[in-house]
Amino acid sequence: MMFPKNFYWGGATAANQCEGAWNVNGKGMTDSDITTAGSFDTLRAKTYQLENGDVIEVPMFQSKPENAKGYVKSDRYYPSHNAVDFYNRYKEDIALFAEMGFTMYRMSIAWSRIFPKGIEEEPNKEGLEFYRNVFLELKKYNIEPLVTLWHFDTPIYLEEELGGWSNREVIKHFDRYAKTVFEEYKGLVKYWLTFNEINNQLMFVEFAKDMPKEIISKRFQELHNQFVASSHAVKLAHEISEDYKVGCMINGITPYPLTPNPDDVLAAQKSFQRNIYYCGDVQVRGHYPAFAQRLWDQFGVELDFTEQDTIDLKEGTVEYFSFSYYMTMCVTAKEDVEKASGNFSFGAVNPHLEYSEWGWAIDPTGLRYFLNEVYGRYEVPLMVVENGLGQDDVLEEDGSVHDEYRIDYFREHIKAMDEAIQDGVDLIAYTSWGCIDIISAGTGEMKKRYGFIYVDLDNEGNGTMDRYRKDSFYWYKKVIESNGQDLDSL
Ligand code: BG6
Repeated sequence: MMFPKNFYWGGATAANQCEGAWNVNGKGMTDSDITTAGSFDTLRAKTYQLENGDVIEVPMFQSKPENAKGYVKSDRYYPSHNAVDFYNRYKEDIALFAEMGFTMYRMSIAWSRIFPKGIEEEPNKEGLEFYRNVFLELKKYNIEPLVTLWHFDTPIYLEEELGGWSNREVIKHFDRYAKTVFEEYKGLVKYWLTFNEINNQLMFVEFAKDMPKEIISKRFQELHNQFVASSHAVKLAHEISEDYKVGCMINGITPYPLTPNPDDVLAAQKSFQRNIYYCGDVQVRGHYPAFAQRLWDQFGVELDFTEQDTIDLKEGTVEYFSFSYYMTMCVTAKEDVEKASGNFSFGAVNPHLEYSEWGWAIDPTGLRYFLNEVYGRYEVPLMVVENGLGQDDVLEEDGSVHDEYRIDYFREHIKAMDEAIQDGVDLIAYTSWGCIDIISAGTGEMKKRYGFIYVDLDNEGNGTMDRYRKDSFYWYKKVIESNGQDLDSL
Protein backbone atom coordinates (compact mmCIF):
# COMPACT_ATOMS: atom_id res chain seq x y z
CA MET A 1 0.00 0.00 0.00
CA MET A 2 1.36 3.32 -1.07
CA PHE A 3 -0.51 6.16 0.60
CA PRO A 4 2.10 8.67 1.77
CA LYS A 5 2.49 9.24 5.51
CA ASN A 6 0.90 12.70 5.47
CA PHE A 7 -1.96 11.81 3.17
CA TYR A 8 -5.12 13.71 4.08
CA TRP A 9 -8.25 11.61 4.66
CA GLY A 10 -11.63 13.18 5.19
CA GLY A 11 -14.93 14.23 3.75
CA ALA A 12 -16.58 17.12 1.96
CA THR A 13 -19.75 19.22 2.03
CA ALA A 14 -21.00 22.53 0.63
CA ALA A 15 -22.64 25.34 2.58
CA ASN A 16 -25.94 25.45 0.70
CA GLN A 17 -26.39 21.70 0.99
CA CYS A 18 -25.71 21.34 4.70
CA GLU A 19 -25.91 24.59 6.69
CA GLY A 20 -29.55 25.67 6.51
CA ALA A 21 -30.11 28.94 8.42
CA TRP A 22 -30.68 30.45 4.99
CA ASN A 23 -31.87 33.85 6.25
CA VAL A 24 -30.38 33.88 9.73
CA ASN A 25 -27.91 36.40 11.20
CA GLY A 26 -27.75 38.57 8.12
CA LYS A 27 -27.26 35.91 5.44
CA GLY A 28 -28.38 37.01 1.98
CA MET A 29 -30.30 34.91 -0.49
CA THR A 30 -28.82 32.75 -3.26
CA ASP A 31 -30.26 30.72 -6.11
CA SER A 32 -30.44 27.62 -3.90
CA ASP A 33 -32.88 29.40 -1.61
CA ILE A 34 -35.45 29.67 -4.40
CA THR A 35 -34.85 26.15 -5.71
CA THR A 36 -37.47 23.54 -4.82
CA ALA A 37 -36.90 19.84 -4.28
CA GLY A 38 -37.11 17.49 -7.26
CA SER A 39 -36.43 13.81 -7.83
CA PHE A 40 -34.73 11.44 -10.26
CA ASP A 41 -37.34 12.17 -12.92
CA THR A 42 -38.66 15.59 -11.89
CA LEU A 43 -36.32 18.50 -12.36
CA ARG A 44 -35.94 20.94 -9.48
CA ALA A 45 -37.57 24.32 -10.17
CA LYS A 46 -36.67 27.90 -9.34
CA THR A 47 -39.46 30.20 -8.21
CA TYR A 48 -39.60 33.81 -9.44
CA GLN A 49 -41.88 36.78 -9.35
CA LEU A 50 -42.31 38.67 -12.61
CA GLU A 51 -42.71 42.44 -12.89
CA ASN A 52 -46.48 42.06 -13.21
CA GLY A 53 -46.62 40.22 -9.89
CA ASP A 54 -47.11 36.73 -11.33
CA VAL A 55 -45.18 33.97 -9.61
CA ILE A 56 -43.70 31.36 -11.92
CA GLU A 57 -41.61 28.20 -11.72
CA VAL A 58 -38.71 27.69 -14.11
CA PRO A 59 -36.91 24.32 -14.47
CA MET A 60 -33.52 24.40 -12.77
CA PHE A 61 -31.21 24.54 -15.79
CA GLN A 62 -33.14 27.21 -17.69
CA SER A 63 -32.14 30.87 -17.64
CA LYS A 64 -33.88 33.37 -15.40
CA PRO A 65 -36.59 35.33 -17.24
CA GLU A 66 -35.59 38.97 -17.67
CA ASN A 67 -36.38 41.22 -14.70
CA ALA A 68 -37.72 38.28 -12.69
CA LYS A 69 -36.82 38.28 -9.01
CA GLY A 70 -36.25 35.24 -6.82
CA TYR A 71 -39.35 34.52 -4.78
CA VAL A 72 -40.06 32.13 -1.93
CA LYS A 73 -43.51 30.52 -2.11
CA SER A 74 -45.18 29.61 1.14
CA ASP A 75 -46.56 26.32 -0.21
CA ARG A 76 -43.27 24.97 -1.59
CA TYR A 77 -40.47 23.13 0.19
CA TYR A 78 -36.97 24.57 -0.32
CA PRO A 79 -34.38 22.08 0.95
CA SER A 80 -31.59 24.64 1.44
CA HIS A 81 -33.59 26.60 4.01
CA ASN A 82 -32.88 24.20 6.82
CA ALA A 83 -30.72 21.67 4.94
CA VAL A 84 -29.30 19.36 7.64
CA ASP A 85 -28.82 22.22 10.11
CA PHE A 86 -25.02 22.15 10.16
CA TYR A 87 -25.25 25.82 11.12
CA ASN A 88 -26.49 24.82 14.58
CA ARG A 89 -25.04 21.33 14.82
CA TYR A 90 -21.50 21.81 13.53
CA LYS A 91 -19.96 20.89 16.88
CA GLU A 92 -21.73 17.54 16.97
CA ASP A 93 -20.88 16.88 13.31
CA ILE A 94 -17.23 17.81 13.62
CA ALA A 95 -16.94 15.59 16.70
CA LEU A 96 -18.22 12.71 14.56
CA PHE A 97 -15.73 13.53 11.79
CA ALA A 98 -13.00 13.52 14.42
CA GLU A 99 -14.20 10.17 15.74
CA MET A 100 -13.66 8.76 12.24
CA GLY A 101 -10.16 10.21 12.31
CA PHE A 102 -10.57 12.87 9.62
CA THR A 103 -7.44 14.88 8.96
CA MET A 104 -9.16 17.12 6.41
CA TYR A 105 -12.66 18.53 6.05
CA ARG A 106 -13.66 20.19 2.81
CA MET A 107 -16.38 22.78 3.24
CA SER A 108 -17.44 25.98 1.55
CA ILE A 109 -18.08 29.49 2.75
CA ALA A 110 -21.44 30.92 1.69
CA TRP A 111 -20.45 34.20 0.07
CA SER A 112 -23.86 35.66 0.98
CA ARG A 113 -23.22 35.00 4.68
CA ILE A 114 -20.21 37.32 4.47
CA PHE A 115 -21.57 39.83 1.94
CA PRO A 116 -25.36 39.34 1.88
CA LYS A 117 -25.90 41.15 -1.42
CA GLY A 118 -22.34 40.84 -2.61
CA ILE A 119 -21.86 44.59 -3.06
CA GLU A 120 -21.40 45.79 0.54
CA GLU A 121 -18.16 47.49 1.51
CA GLU A 122 -18.16 45.94 4.98
CA PRO A 123 -18.60 42.23 5.72
CA ASN A 124 -21.35 40.79 7.89
CA LYS A 125 -19.67 40.18 11.26
CA GLU A 126 -21.99 37.35 12.23
CA GLY A 127 -21.16 35.48 9.05
CA LEU A 128 -17.44 35.82 9.69
CA GLU A 129 -17.95 34.70 13.27
CA PHE A 130 -19.77 31.54 12.24
CA TYR A 131 -16.94 30.27 10.04
CA ARG A 132 -14.33 31.32 12.61
CA ASN A 133 -16.11 29.10 15.14
CA VAL A 134 -16.23 26.22 12.67
CA PHE A 135 -12.49 26.56 11.95
CA LEU A 136 -11.70 26.73 15.67
CA GLU A 137 -13.73 23.60 16.25
CA LEU A 138 -11.82 21.81 13.49
CA LYS A 139 -8.53 22.97 14.95
CA LYS A 140 -9.48 21.43 18.28
CA TYR A 141 -9.31 18.03 16.56
CA ASN A 142 -6.38 18.83 14.22
CA ILE A 143 -8.62 18.61 11.19
CA GLU A 144 -7.29 20.72 8.32
CA PRO A 145 -10.03 22.69 6.60
CA LEU A 146 -10.06 22.77 2.81
CA VAL A 147 -12.24 25.75 1.99
CA THR A 148 -14.09 26.37 -1.27
CA LEU A 149 -14.84 30.04 -1.90
CA TRP A 150 -17.67 29.44 -4.34
CA HIS A 151 -19.83 26.35 -4.45
CA PHE A 152 -22.59 27.44 -6.86
CA ASP A 153 -23.75 30.22 -4.53
CA THR A 154 -23.43 33.72 -5.93
CA PRO A 155 -25.53 36.19 -3.89
CA ILE A 156 -28.83 36.47 -5.75
CA TYR A 157 -28.62 40.27 -5.77
CA LEU A 158 -25.57 40.05 -8.06
CA GLU A 159 -27.46 37.75 -10.41
CA GLU A 160 -30.54 39.94 -10.51
CA GLU A 161 -29.07 43.42 -10.49
CA LEU A 162 -25.77 42.92 -12.29
CA GLY A 163 -26.58 39.94 -14.47
CA GLY A 164 -24.29 37.55 -12.60
CA TRP A 165 -20.95 36.28 -13.83
CA SER A 166 -21.37 37.49 -17.40
CA ASN A 167 -20.79 40.99 -15.99
CA ARG A 168 -17.14 41.71 -15.27
CA GLU A 169 -18.17 43.90 -12.36
CA VAL A 170 -18.91 40.80 -10.34
CA ILE A 171 -15.18 40.03 -10.37
CA LYS A 172 -14.39 42.99 -8.16
CA HIS A 173 -17.06 41.98 -5.66
CA PHE A 174 -15.62 38.47 -5.58
CA ASP A 175 -12.14 39.95 -5.07
CA ARG A 176 -13.36 41.84 -2.02
CA TYR A 177 -15.00 38.71 -0.62
CA ALA A 178 -11.85 36.63 -1.20
CA LYS A 179 -9.60 39.28 0.36
CA THR A 180 -11.88 39.52 3.39
CA VAL A 181 -11.88 35.83 4.18
CA PHE A 182 -8.17 35.42 3.44
CA GLU A 183 -7.39 38.19 5.92
CA GLU A 184 -9.90 36.98 8.47
CA TYR A 185 -8.88 33.33 8.63
CA LYS A 186 -5.09 33.63 8.53
CA GLY A 187 -3.66 30.96 10.79
CA LEU A 188 -6.89 28.95 10.78
CA VAL A 189 -6.98 27.80 7.16
CA LYS A 190 -4.18 26.72 4.85
CA TYR A 191 -5.85 25.09 1.83
CA TRP A 192 -8.31 26.94 -0.39
CA LEU A 193 -10.21 26.13 -3.58
CA THR A 194 -11.58 28.91 -5.74
CA PHE A 195 -14.57 27.74 -7.86
CA ASN A 196 -16.29 24.40 -7.42
CA GLU A 197 -16.55 22.39 -10.66
CA ILE A 198 -15.74 25.47 -12.71
CA ASN A 199 -15.97 23.38 -15.89
CA ASN A 200 -19.69 22.71 -15.42
CA GLN A 201 -20.28 25.78 -17.56
CA LEU A 202 -18.87 23.91 -20.54
CA MET A 203 -20.53 20.65 -19.64
CA PHE A 204 -23.84 22.48 -19.95
CA VAL A 205 -23.00 23.39 -23.51
CA GLU A 206 -22.59 19.73 -24.39
CA PHE A 207 -25.50 18.65 -22.19
CA ALA A 208 -28.08 21.04 -23.64
CA LYS A 209 -27.43 20.49 -27.33
CA ASP A 210 -30.02 22.96 -28.56
CA MET A 211 -28.77 25.87 -26.45
CA PRO A 212 -28.94 29.13 -28.47
CA LYS A 213 -25.58 30.54 -29.58
CA GLU A 214 -25.87 33.70 -27.52
CA ILE A 215 -26.38 31.66 -24.35
CA ILE A 216 -23.35 29.56 -25.23
CA SER A 217 -21.29 32.72 -25.73
CA LYS A 218 -22.50 33.98 -22.40
CA ARG A 219 -21.41 30.75 -20.73
CA PHE A 220 -17.90 31.10 -22.13
CA GLN A 221 -17.76 34.69 -20.92
CA GLU A 222 -19.00 33.77 -17.45
CA LEU A 223 -16.34 31.11 -17.30
CA HIS A 224 -13.66 33.54 -18.41
CA ASN A 225 -14.70 35.99 -15.72
CA GLN A 226 -14.53 33.24 -13.13
CA PHE A 227 -11.02 32.32 -14.34
CA VAL A 228 -9.98 35.92 -13.85
CA ALA A 229 -11.61 36.08 -10.41
CA SER A 230 -9.87 32.82 -9.50
CA SER A 231 -6.48 34.17 -10.59
CA HIS A 232 -7.03 37.31 -8.51
CA ALA A 233 -7.90 35.14 -5.51
CA VAL A 234 -4.70 33.13 -5.92
CA LYS A 235 -2.62 36.29 -6.07
CA LEU A 236 -4.39 37.83 -3.10
CA ALA A 237 -3.99 34.68 -1.04
CA HIS A 238 -0.25 34.68 -1.58
CA GLU A 239 0.06 38.36 -0.80
CA ILE A 240 -1.86 37.87 2.44
CA SER A 241 -0.17 34.73 3.76
CA GLU A 242 2.76 32.70 2.58
CA ASP A 243 1.15 29.66 4.21
CA TYR A 244 -1.83 29.74 1.88
CA LYS A 245 -2.12 27.14 -0.84
CA VAL A 246 -4.80 27.53 -3.49
CA GLY A 247 -6.16 24.96 -5.91
CA CYS A 248 -8.69 24.68 -8.71
CA MET A 249 -11.67 22.32 -8.65
CA ILE A 250 -12.80 20.51 -11.77
CA ASN A 251 -15.69 18.15 -12.39
CA GLY A 252 -13.78 15.02 -13.38
CA ILE A 253 -16.31 13.24 -15.56
CA THR A 254 -13.93 11.15 -17.62
CA PRO A 255 -14.60 10.52 -21.31
CA TYR A 256 -13.84 7.16 -22.91
CA PRO A 257 -14.31 6.37 -26.61
CA LEU A 258 -17.34 4.10 -26.96
CA THR A 259 -15.55 1.97 -29.58
CA PRO A 260 -12.07 1.81 -31.20
CA ASN A 261 -13.55 3.54 -34.23
CA PRO A 262 -11.09 6.44 -34.82
CA ASP A 263 -14.03 8.85 -34.94
CA ASP A 264 -15.05 7.81 -31.43
CA VAL A 265 -11.47 8.04 -30.18
CA LEU A 266 -11.17 11.54 -31.57
CA ALA A 267 -14.56 12.53 -30.13
CA ALA A 268 -13.43 11.32 -26.69
CA GLN A 269 -10.19 13.29 -27.01
CA LYS A 270 -12.14 16.41 -27.94
CA SER A 271 -14.43 15.88 -24.98
CA PHE A 272 -11.44 15.57 -22.63
CA GLN A 273 -9.98 18.76 -24.05
CA ARG A 274 -13.20 20.75 -23.86
CA ASN A 275 -14.54 19.50 -20.56
CA ILE A 276 -11.36 19.06 -18.54
CA TYR A 277 -8.26 20.61 -20.12
CA TYR A 278 -9.85 23.87 -21.23
CA CYS A 279 -10.26 24.84 -17.57
CA GLY A 280 -7.28 22.94 -16.18
CA ASP A 281 -4.92 24.60 -18.64
CA VAL A 282 -6.06 28.11 -17.79
CA GLN A 283 -5.93 27.53 -14.06
CA VAL A 284 -2.77 25.43 -13.82
CA ARG A 285 -0.75 26.60 -16.82
CA GLY A 286 -2.01 30.18 -16.83
CA HIS A 287 -3.20 30.47 -20.41
CA TYR A 288 -5.84 29.13 -22.78
CA PRO A 289 -4.84 25.96 -24.65
CA ALA A 290 -4.15 25.82 -28.38
CA PHE A 291 -7.50 24.17 -29.13
CA ALA A 292 -9.51 27.03 -27.53
CA GLN A 293 -9.66 29.22 -30.65
CA ARG A 294 -11.29 26.50 -32.73
CA LEU A 295 -13.84 25.95 -30.01
CA TRP A 296 -14.65 29.65 -29.84
CA ASP A 297 -14.99 29.74 -33.61
CA GLN A 298 -17.28 26.71 -33.55
CA PHE A 299 -19.68 28.44 -31.16
CA GLY A 300 -19.20 31.97 -32.46
CA VAL A 301 -17.71 33.10 -29.15
CA GLU A 302 -15.93 36.45 -28.90
CA LEU A 303 -14.47 36.79 -25.47
CA ASP A 304 -14.18 40.11 -23.72
CA PHE A 305 -10.57 39.52 -22.73
CA THR A 306 -8.25 42.32 -21.57
CA GLU A 307 -4.47 42.50 -21.62
CA GLN A 308 -4.54 42.61 -17.85
CA ASP A 309 -6.51 39.33 -17.87
CA THR A 310 -3.64 37.68 -19.75
CA ILE A 311 -1.21 38.85 -17.08
CA ASP A 312 -3.48 37.84 -14.21
CA LEU A 313 -4.16 34.38 -15.57
CA LYS A 314 -0.43 33.88 -15.92
CA GLU A 315 0.38 35.14 -12.45
CA GLY A 316 -2.57 33.57 -10.65
CA THR A 317 -2.00 29.90 -11.37
CA VAL A 318 -3.02 27.32 -8.78
CA GLU A 319 -0.60 25.07 -6.92
CA TYR A 320 -2.66 21.93 -6.91
CA PHE A 321 -5.43 20.41 -8.97
CA SER A 322 -8.49 19.11 -7.18
CA PHE A 323 -11.49 17.41 -8.71
CA SER A 324 -14.70 15.53 -8.11
CA TYR A 325 -14.82 12.03 -9.47
CA TYR A 326 -18.05 10.14 -9.79
CA MET A 327 -18.03 8.53 -13.20
CA THR A 328 -16.76 8.00 -16.68
CA MET A 329 -18.87 8.44 -19.79
CA CYS A 330 -18.65 6.97 -23.26
CA VAL A 331 -18.28 9.34 -26.17
CA THR A 332 -19.13 8.45 -29.73
CA ALA A 333 -19.44 10.23 -33.06
CA LYS A 334 -22.72 8.35 -33.61
CA GLU A 335 -26.09 9.84 -32.68
CA ASP A 336 -28.32 6.76 -32.36
CA VAL A 337 -26.93 5.19 -29.18
CA GLU A 338 -28.49 4.51 -25.82
CA LYS A 339 -27.61 7.38 -23.49
CA ALA A 340 -26.70 7.16 -19.82
CA SER A 341 -28.62 9.65 -17.75
CA GLY A 342 -26.69 10.49 -14.57
CA ASN A 343 -25.34 13.92 -13.69
CA PHE A 344 -23.94 15.67 -16.79
CA SER A 345 -23.28 12.30 -18.32
CA PHE A 346 -24.63 12.91 -21.77
CA GLY A 347 -22.54 9.99 -23.00
CA ALA A 348 -23.55 6.55 -24.24
CA VAL A 349 -24.20 3.63 -21.91
CA ASN A 350 -21.06 1.66 -21.12
CA PRO A 351 -21.93 -2.07 -21.32
CA HIS A 352 -19.03 -2.93 -19.01
CA LEU A 353 -20.20 -0.87 -16.07
CA GLU A 354 -22.92 -0.92 -13.45
CA TYR A 355 -25.04 2.15 -12.82
CA SER A 356 -26.38 3.45 -9.51
CA GLU A 357 -30.09 3.90 -8.85
CA TRP A 358 -29.68 7.48 -10.03
CA GLY A 359 -28.04 6.33 -13.26
CA TRP A 360 -24.45 7.27 -12.35
CA ALA A 361 -21.82 4.92 -13.78
CA ILE A 362 -19.66 3.17 -11.18
CA ASP A 363 -16.10 2.96 -12.42
CA PRO A 364 -13.17 2.86 -9.97
CA THR A 365 -10.71 2.12 -12.79
CA GLY A 366 -11.76 5.39 -14.38
CA LEU A 367 -10.45 7.18 -11.31
CA ARG A 368 -6.99 5.66 -11.80
CA TYR A 369 -7.16 6.55 -15.48
CA PHE A 370 -8.15 10.16 -14.74
CA LEU A 371 -5.49 10.60 -12.06
CA ASN A 372 -2.82 9.41 -14.48
CA GLU A 373 -4.05 11.58 -17.33
CA VAL A 374 -4.25 14.76 -15.31
CA TYR A 375 -1.01 14.24 -13.42
CA GLY A 376 0.76 13.48 -16.69
CA ARG A 377 -0.36 16.83 -18.08
CA TYR A 378 0.10 19.11 -15.08
CA GLU A 379 2.59 17.51 -12.68
CA VAL A 380 1.17 19.32 -9.68
CA PRO A 381 -0.23 17.62 -6.54
CA LEU A 382 -3.75 16.25 -6.96
CA MET A 383 -6.64 16.00 -4.53
CA VAL A 384 -9.80 13.94 -4.94
CA VAL A 385 -12.22 16.26 -3.17
CA GLU A 386 -15.52 14.57 -4.06
CA ASN A 387 -16.31 10.92 -4.66
CA GLY A 388 -19.05 8.69 -3.37
CA LEU A 389 -22.23 6.74 -3.93
CA GLY A 390 -25.63 8.42 -3.65
CA GLN A 391 -27.99 5.74 -2.41
CA ASP A 392 -31.08 5.47 -0.24
CA ASP A 393 -30.29 3.85 3.13
CA VAL A 394 -32.46 2.08 5.69
CA LEU A 395 -32.29 3.23 9.29
CA GLU A 396 -32.94 0.13 11.43
CA GLU A 397 -34.92 0.17 14.69
CA ASP A 398 -31.68 0.01 16.69
CA GLY A 399 -30.22 3.05 14.91
CA SER A 400 -27.85 1.08 12.67
CA VAL A 401 -27.52 1.46 8.90
CA HIS A 402 -26.08 -1.45 6.93
CA ASP A 403 -24.56 0.17 3.86
CA GLU A 404 -22.18 -2.49 2.59
CA TYR A 405 -22.82 -1.23 -1.00
CA ARG A 406 -21.19 2.07 -0.02
CA ILE A 407 -18.24 0.28 1.60
CA ASP A 408 -17.77 -1.76 -1.60
CA TYR A 409 -17.84 1.42 -3.66
CA PHE A 410 -15.25 3.18 -1.51
CA ARG A 411 -13.02 0.13 -1.21
CA GLU A 412 -12.64 -0.11 -4.97
CA HIS A 413 -12.03 3.62 -5.42
CA ILE A 414 -9.43 3.67 -2.68
CA LYS A 415 -7.66 0.72 -4.32
CA ALA A 416 -7.70 2.66 -7.59
CA MET A 417 -6.07 5.67 -5.90
CA ASP A 418 -3.47 3.38 -4.41
CA GLU A 419 -2.67 2.01 -7.87
CA ALA A 420 -2.42 5.54 -9.25
CA ILE A 421 0.04 6.48 -6.52
CA GLN A 422 2.08 3.43 -7.48
CA ASP A 423 1.87 4.66 -11.08
CA GLY A 424 3.72 7.75 -9.86
CA VAL A 425 0.84 10.16 -9.32
CA ASP A 426 1.36 12.75 -6.57
CA LEU A 427 -2.02 12.40 -4.81
CA ILE A 428 -2.18 14.18 -1.48
CA ALA A 429 -5.79 14.10 -0.28
CA TYR A 430 -9.11 12.30 -0.45
CA THR A 431 -12.30 13.90 0.85
CA SER A 432 -15.33 11.79 0.02
CA TRP A 433 -18.49 13.64 -0.90
CA GLY A 434 -21.29 14.26 1.60
CA CYS A 435 -19.47 12.62 4.52
CA ILE A 436 -22.64 13.34 6.44
CA ASP A 437 -25.95 13.01 4.54
CA ILE A 438 -26.81 16.35 2.93
CA ILE A 439 -29.26 17.69 0.36
CA SER A 440 -28.57 16.46 -3.16
CA ALA A 441 -27.53 19.34 -5.41
CA GLY A 442 -28.94 17.74 -8.54
CA THR A 443 -32.31 16.54 -7.32
CA GLY A 444 -32.83 18.33 -4.00
CA GLU A 445 -33.62 14.97 -2.44
CA MET A 446 -32.51 13.82 0.95
CA LYS A 447 -32.78 10.15 0.14
CA LYS A 448 -29.84 10.36 -2.26
CA ARG A 449 -27.47 9.84 0.62
CA TYR A 450 -23.67 9.82 0.43
CA GLY A 451 -22.73 9.94 4.11
CA PHE A 452 -20.98 7.82 6.69
CA ILE A 453 -23.41 9.55 9.04
CA TYR A 454 -27.15 9.13 8.55
CA VAL A 455 -29.35 12.19 9.10
CA ASP A 456 -32.98 11.54 10.02
CA LEU A 457 -34.67 13.74 7.44
CA ASP A 458 -36.87 12.89 4.47
CA ASN A 459 -37.42 14.43 1.04
CA GLU A 460 -40.14 16.73 2.33
CA GLY A 461 -38.09 18.05 5.24
CA ASN A 462 -39.66 15.87 7.97
CA GLY A 463 -37.52 14.20 10.63
CA THR A 464 -35.63 14.77 13.87
CA MET A 465 -32.33 15.55 12.11
CA ASP A 466 -30.68 13.19 14.60
CA ARG A 467 -27.38 11.74 13.44
CA TYR A 468 -26.59 7.97 13.32
CA ARG A 469 -23.35 6.17 12.51
CA LYS A 470 -23.66 3.89 9.46
CA ASP A 471 -21.59 0.71 9.06
CA SER A 472 -19.41 2.66 6.63
CA PHE A 473 -18.57 5.05 9.48
CA TYR A 474 -16.74 2.27 11.39
CA TRP A 475 -15.20 0.98 8.18
CA TYR A 476 -13.80 4.40 7.14
CA LYS A 477 -12.41 4.90 10.64
CA LYS A 478 -10.32 1.74 10.13
CA VAL A 479 -9.27 2.89 6.66
CA ILE A 480 -7.99 6.17 8.04
CA GLU A 481 -6.36 4.56 11.07
CA SER A 482 -4.42 2.23 8.78
CA ASN A 483 -3.66 4.96 6.20
CA GLY A 484 -5.61 3.12 3.53
CA GLN A 485 -4.26 -0.36 4.24
CA ASP A 486 -7.16 -1.98 6.03
CA LEU A 487 -10.04 -1.96 3.58
CA ASP A 488 -11.87 -4.97 4.98
CA SER A 489 -12.66 -4.46 8.67
CA LEU A 490 -15.78 -3.01 10.20
C1 BG6 B 1 -21.00 17.64 -7.51
C2 BG6 B 1 -21.26 18.91 -6.71
O1 BG6 B 1 -21.32 17.89 -8.83
O2 BG6 B 1 -21.77 16.52 -7.24
C3 BG6 B 1 -21.97 18.68 -5.38
O3 BG6 B 1 -20.07 19.63 -6.49
C4 BG6 B 1 -23.02 17.61 -5.55
O4 BG6 B 1 -22.47 19.90 -4.93
C5 BG6 B 1 -22.34 16.32 -5.97
O5 BG6 B 1 -23.80 17.41 -4.41
C6 BG6 B 1 -23.26 15.13 -6.05
O6 BG6 B 1 -24.36 15.44 -6.84
P1 BG6 B 1 -25.84 15.20 -6.32
O7 BG6 B 1 -26.70 15.74 -7.38
O8 BG6 B 1 -25.97 13.73 -6.15
O9 BG6 B 1 -25.95 15.93 -5.04
